[in-house]
Amino acid sequence: MHLSEINYEVSVAQPLFSLDGASLITPQSVSNTTAAQPTNDINDLLLTAEAEFALIANIAAQRFEAGKNLPEAVKWLITQMHELRAKAGPAVWQKLIPLIQAHPSAEIMQQCPFTRWSFDKPRGYSGDASLIDFIYGHEDVAIEVARSTPQGLEIFEYTINAPGPVAVRERRDILTQYVDRVAAEKGPDTEILTVAAGHLREAEASEALKNDGIKRWVALDQDPLSIATIARQFQNTCIEPTEGSVRGLLANKYQLGTFDLIYAAGLYDYLADRVAIRLTEVCLDMLKPGGVFLFANFSNEMADDGYMESYMNWELLQRSEEEMWKIAKLSSDQSKVEVDVWWGSNRNIIYSTIHKKA
Ligand SMILES: C[S@@+](CC[C@H](N)C(=O)[O-])C[C@H]1O[C@@H](n2cnc3c(N)ncnc32)[C@H](O)[C@@H]1O
Repeated sequence: MHLSEINYEVSVAQPLFSLDGASLITPQSVSNTTAAQPTNDINDLLLTAEAEFALIANIAAQRFEAGKNLPEAVKWLITQMHELRAKAGPAVWQKLIPLIQAHPSAEIMQQCPFTRWSFDKPRGYSGDASLIDFIYGHEDVAIEVARSTPQGLEIFEYTINAPGPVAVRERRDILTQYVDRVAAEKGPDTEILTVAAGHLREAEASEALKNDGIKRWVALDQDPLSIATIARQFQNTCIEPTEGSVRGLLANKYQLGTFDLIYAAGLYDYLADRVAIRLTEVCLDMLKPGGVFLFANFSNEMADDGYMESYMNWELLQRSEEEMWKIAKLSSDQSKVEVDVWWGSNRNIIYSTIHKKA
């Protein structure tokens, strides 16, 4: 996508990048949406925000040096960063991010293996499946965790129990429940498509998978390493690891067939409205009558955004309830579907389900 195509006036999630995994979101791309504010104002506000950040960082450093109850100190820092981000506004916040990342406190925070992985981006993009494995406490990242300093482990104790990660673990469990519920309803001919499957961790706890209650479960992801991980773990099951991208789906490149359940989690957070609506349309076309499509998104009420965007260099498009309704409604014929939008329990993730009438 060319910058000239970006609509700067829309206050909902902004189009920031092209359709594919090769161009996932970066904090720098967001700054392109904030060009409208006068430079003088921004510079003045930046000075204030910088001073406020220095104060926060000093207090945090004192608490870290004292070495007492580090997880509590990290919790405090994450809350402060959320408030600072909200107060600064998008244009100032984008200018503050590199200053935070260059601050000595960043070196301390990056002792946390989850924070470090996110910042380093070993897979070359934000939000790879191994990053989510830290949140899941998965054994595949145990070596990486074990390499951490004692201080890093203490920080990690809070970062993976912050509201965002808590919501991500609930999201995985919700996905497992959907898979099992649909398989129980539709029987052994059930066909499932997971878009942006990552490592498909929700399959680990699926009773339907364990009991051969699913005919076919296509797990699509753009990252060949994630696909290889799924292939290794779920060989000799009905799971079909499939390398493919959103771009490929939109171009109708794969003949995947039709499904009883299609879902995407950890993907819409990177998709501009236009792409999200088009992808939803494509997924609804692949749904059998009586089938359900689910998509999840980090909500505009999420609490960890300031910490994630700065110390973790992990940018997400947060969406409000209205924005979720907008995607669901603009992508479907209301006479043929039933749409719902609902919250996860701590309101950091929001869901939409679209049921295709039988
Ligand atoms: C945050 S992870 C989520 C993984 C999994 N769905 C979960 O909930 O744990 C995001 C996944 O989306 C995949 N992804 C990102 N952009 C994509 C695209 N354009 N097409 C296909 N997959 C994409 C990444 O490769 C990554 O595995």
